Amino acid sequence: WDQCILEHFFMMFLLFLKVVVIKSNFISRAQKVNVFLHVNDGSSLQSLQVVAGAELNDPLLTFGSAVEVSGILQESPHEKQPLELQADSIRVIGECDPVDFPFKVKKRHGLEYIRQFPHLRCRTNAFSSLLRIRSEATSAIHSYFKDNGFVQIHTPIITSNDCEGAGELFQVEPAGADEHFFSVPAFLTVSGQLHLEATAGAFSKVYTFGPTFRAENSQSRRHLAEFYMVEAEISFTQSMEDLTKVMEDMFRSATEHVLARCVEDVDLFHRHVTPGHRVNSMLKKSFPVITYTEAVDILTRSSEQFAFPSDWGCDLKTEHEKYLVKHCGNVPVFVTDYPYDLKPFYARDNQDGPRHTAAAVDLLVPGVGELCGGSLREERLSVLRARLEQLGLEDAYSWYLDLRRFGSAPHGGFGLGFERYLQCLLGVDNIKDVIPFPRFSRSCLL
Ligand code: 4AD
Ligand code: MG
Repeated sequence: WDQCILEHFFMMFLLFLKVVVIKSNFISRAQKVNVFLHVNDGSSLQSLQVVAGAELNDPLLTFGSAVEVSGILQESPHEKQPLELQADSIRVIGECDPVDFPFKVKKRHGLEYIRQFPHLRCRTNAFSSLLRIRSEATSAIHSYFKDNGFVQIHTPIITSNDCEGAGELFQVEPAGADEHFFSVPAFLTVSGQLHLEATAGAFSKVYTFGPTFRAENSQSRRHLAEFYMVEAEISFTQSMEDLTKVMEDMFRSATEHVLARCVEDVDLFHRHVTPGHRVNSMLKKSFPVITYTEAVDILTRSSEQFAFPSDWGCDLKTEHEKYLVKHCGNVPVFVTDYPYDLKPFYARDNQDGPRHTAAAVDLLVPGVGELCGGSLREERLSVLRARLEQLGLEDAYSWYLDLRRFGSAPHGGFGLGFERYLQCLLGVDNIKDVIPFPRFSRSCLL
C-alpha cells in the first residue's frame, strides 16, 4: 500500500460514514484553502484522510453524512497516516443534519449518553470499537472450541423444558392462539444444556453459542432478558478439574486472541472509555479455586459489610461475589461445591455430610461477579430418578433419564454469559453497553 499510488482510485463509502471536515492548515499554491475529510467505512478506527480543493467543498459535507469520493490515493506527508486520497470528485449520498445529529465532531460522548440512541450509537468510535471486539471475541471462542475437538451444536431456541427450573421463561405461542401451537407449552430457551447433554452422548465434546432468554424482572447492570451464552459439555470427566480447566483455558485463549487482534480498538477503550482497566492483570496466575464453604467463611468475617446474609445455605449475591474476587487478588476465582438445594436437578450429588453439596462451580470475575455457571452432571440413573421424582418432574424428563439408561458416562459442562465476558474484558460497568440492541425489563426498543 505505501508503495502504490493508484491513479483514479475509486472509493465508494456507503452508509454510516463519519465525515469530519476540519480546517485546513495545508495551503496549496494553486488554492488558498483545501478541504480535509476523514472518511471511515467501519472496518477499523482508522479514517482515510481525503484532501480536496476548495472547489469541491459543499455545505452538505457535514459530520455523519454518507459520501462517495473518487481520486488518487497517494503517500501522505503526515507521519500518522501512510496514505491520503487526493479527491477529484466528492458526492454527498446521504445528508446528515449537524444540528439534530446527536453526536458532535471531536466530542467524546459517554456510554450512558450514547445508550439513548441504540439505532445510531454504532457510529461512535467507542461503540464501533466495542462491536468489532465483540465480533472478534465471537470468532475467538469458536476457534478455541474448534481447535480443541468440540463439535458445534445448534441447540433449539424454542423448547418445552425449563432447564434451570427457575421459572424465568418467556412463553411462545402464535398471537391470538387459544391452544398450544406445539400441543404442549413452549418457551424461549433459558439454556441449551440439556440438548448439549443429549449430543455429548454421541460426540464427547460439544458446544453451543447462541441467544438465551430469561424473563428476569431486573434492571441490574449484569442482567438482560436476551443475552448470548457459550455452553460446553464434556463427556468422560474424571473430576471438577476437567471442567475448570476448560473454563480457564477458554477464557485465556479468547482473551489473548482479542488482545492480539484488536489492539487499536482495545487501546481506545483503555485510553478513553474505561481508563485503568487492564484484563492482562487477570491472566498472570492460574485462577484460584475455593469451595463454597470456604467462601462463606471468608464472607462471614466481614458480614457487617453486606446488605444480604452470607450464611451457609444462602445463594451468593453480587456483593458477595465481588468481595470474594477482591479477597483473592482481583483475579477470576472458581467457587465449587454449592449447597445441593441451591442447584438444579441435573447437578451431581456429592453425597456428603450435613452440609449437603453438589458438584457445581461458578467462575467469578472482577467487576462483574458470576461469569460462568457449571457442574458435573448427575449421571447415576437411580440418583437422578430419585431427585426428579422428588421434584415431580419424572414424566417431563423421561427422555433425560434415557440418556442415563443408554450408555451414560460421567460428564459436565458450563455456560458463560458472553456479555458479562465482554464487560470483564473491557471493564464496562453496564451490560446494556456491550450488546448492539439490549432487551431488558420494560425495554424492547427497535
Ligand atoms: O448460571 P446459569 O444460569 O447456568 C446455566 O444456564 C447452565 N445451564 C449453563 C450450563 O451449565 N450449560 O447461566 C450461565 C451464565 C451465568 O453465569 C451468567 O454469566 C449468564 O449465563 N447469565 C446472564 N447474562 C446476562 N443476563 C442474564 N439474565 C443472565 N443469566 C445468566
Ligand atoms: Mg448461575
